[in-house]
Amino acid sequence: MKKPSFYITTPIYYPSDNLHIGHAYCTSIADAIARYHRAAGEDVFFLTGSDEHGQKIQRKAEQKGVTPIAYVDAIVANFKLLWEKLGISNDDFLRTSEERHAKVVQTIMQKIYDQGDIYKKNYEGLYCVPCESYWLERQLVDGKCPDCKRPVERMAEESYFFKLSKYQDRLLKHIEEHPDFIQPVSRRNEMINFIKQGLEDLCITRTTFDWGIKVPFDSKHVVYVWFDALINYLTGIEYGVNDEKFNKFWPANLHLVGKEIVRFHSIIWSIMLMAADLPLPKQVYGHGWLVVEGDKMSKSKGNVVEPLALIDEFGADAIRYFLLREINLGSDGNFSRDALINRINADLANDLGNLLHRTISMVEKYHDGILHKVSGEHEVDAALITLVAQTVENYKKAMSKMEINTAIKDVWALISRANKYIDETGPWLLAKDPAQTNRLQAVLYNLAETLRIIAILIEPFMPHTAPKIYSQLGLALPEHFAHKDAVWGRVPEGTQTQKGEPLFPRIEIIEEEVVVPELKKQEVAKEAKSVNAKVKTEEIKAEVAIEDFAKLDLRVATIVTAERVPKTDKLMKIMVRIGMEERIIVSGIAQHYTAEELVGRNVIVIANLAPIKLRGIESKGMLLAASDNEGNLVLADAPNIASGSRVK
Ligand code: ME8
Repeated sequence: MKKPSFYITTPIYYPSDNLHIGHAYCTSIADAIARYHRAAGEDVFFLTGSDEHGQKIQRKAEQKGVTPIAYVDAIVANFKLLWEKLGISNDDFLRTSEERHAKVVQTIMQKIYDQGDIYKKNYEGLYCVPCESYWLERQLVDGKCPDCKRPVERMAEESYFFKLSKYQDRLLKHIEEHPDFIQPVSRRNEMINFIKQGLEDLCITRTTFDWGIKVPFDSKHVVYVWFDALINYLTGIEYGVNDEKFNKFWPANLHLVGKEIVRFHSIIWSIMLMAADLPLPKQVYGHGWLVVEGDKMSKSKGNVVEPLALIDEFGADAIRYFLLREINLGSDGNFSRDALINRINADLANDLGNLLHRTISMVEKYHDGILHKVSGEHEVDAALITLVAQTVENYKKAMSKMEINTAIKDVWALISRANKYIDETGPWLLAKDPAQTNRLQAVLYNLAETLRIIAILIEPFMPHTAPKIYSQLGLALPEHFAHKDAVWGRVPEGTQTQKGEPLFPRIEIIEEEVVVPELKKQEVAKEAKSVNAKVKTEEIKAEVAIEDFAKLDLRVATIVTAERVPKTDKLMKIMVRIGMEERIIVSGIAQHYTAEELVGRNVIVIANLAPIKLRGIESKGMLLAASDNEGNLVLADAPNIASGSRVK
């Protein structure tokens, strides 16, 4: 049977600067949707790229003293690096400076010219260079561009115009007959109002600069950058070159764009297609805007969030999860570091990470890492299995309506339920009773099976995490994660689990030290002393059994290197050697020791503490130190004894 096709695109971003978190947001959404449709068994084509021509880029290159192509080459290399690190599964990356694109733009333009929809006239207008848009006097807001609020420039050129007005009624009729064409509904209404106010013909050529594609019928002119850019959606699927591919994927199923460029996609692009006698895309979806800590991102405010740095610190899947979970697709959303860290700790480390960790640890501990295919007969088992099936259905419904965060919430409700299932069934109690071996096997199997299906469902959002779950469960990686496999009972009998690193180590939030003025410091010190005199010894914590103490693996470690963690007051990144093994421990001792004082010292560490991430660095273990009320701190030393020795 022929697979259904699905063609999805992102905007092609301007390589005038490196991309920020807003661009990463749009491309992550598109990637999740593309992966979802692949999992549904469709033949997907996912296109992204770069919009390289136009006056804005030419000016930027001039300021830098380089050619436009040299300028964009460097930035486009960064686009590609970002998409690779973020796990973006685009099938092609289209640069509008490529020859294959110029040919298609010239073909389409010639076609529209030949049938009489392009004419020449003298033009004088108000131009916004950053937005590459002409505006009418009445459209300005306080004399400035209504989109970006920057000043406009008066430009006069002899130009070619495209007859948008001719197609106005046909477009309105199309929008009315196809309620899904422009989404969400708020954008659709906005566009209908815009068209009803009357469309002006569009100036589609420029002579004031030359960084663009030459107009085929008049080589003094270059093609207007938006007319050029929109055609990328045809070039990407080989219009005029590979008819089979083009006919398979056109019309596109979804142009995903930010809300500010819905107008270009639903009006100008639609009319270009009508004039070129091509069908219109099935949907243009305008997603909302991301602000940072409640504020619009801008270079001058210095609040632009760089996705590459964020990925290095927290990992791609955590960023993708946050963006897709936190924001309703059609609405504006807020990015904040605290909210990101909260989501990582609560949803990823606690809920998902713990479910996998607890399950695999118990399979190892009770059944030597082997999963046995035993079905459970209890009510809790039936309830879990039913919820898995319901979750798969609800997830598909939500994803097909582009309600990505609803789909994620459904999966996380299942994760919570599975964690609760562990508490309800109490595997540690079952393990004590040999008569319950079968029951224990069934419980662990149910957990593994639930995790396997969870991995399939989260793969579109977290493409690096899903394979990790599979490999810890001991399952062979499928060629594609597919919905057809999201049915109960596929973990084979005798599967050997493979315990791995925690999926998402918890992130500790280290408060930056508040600067206390000198006078205040003396007062604080005085106060501390008097407290010290009054309370001689801090209250001793509750008793613990010797077995609890024995759980800690305390070792002598030798400090090999030490360096301060940049942009922190307290943190030191320390490499220690414990016997033969070297590892990194991040410790809050930078105000008490210099690197030189530390290197070569034998100290005592907790060697089996669960790893955590501090400022993006994974810390495995903890240095022991004594501290008093006056802020003194001394490391617990162990000189004259071999590194690796046990401390008891
Ligand atoms: O408009 N929040 O390119 P562009 C969310 N080259 N999304 C954001 C965002 C934010 N703060 N900032 C940018 C162009 N975006 C044209 C497109 S297509 C034929 C040509 C995303 O580099 C959002 O998707 O200005 C927006 O539409 C797009 O980046 C604009 O990217």
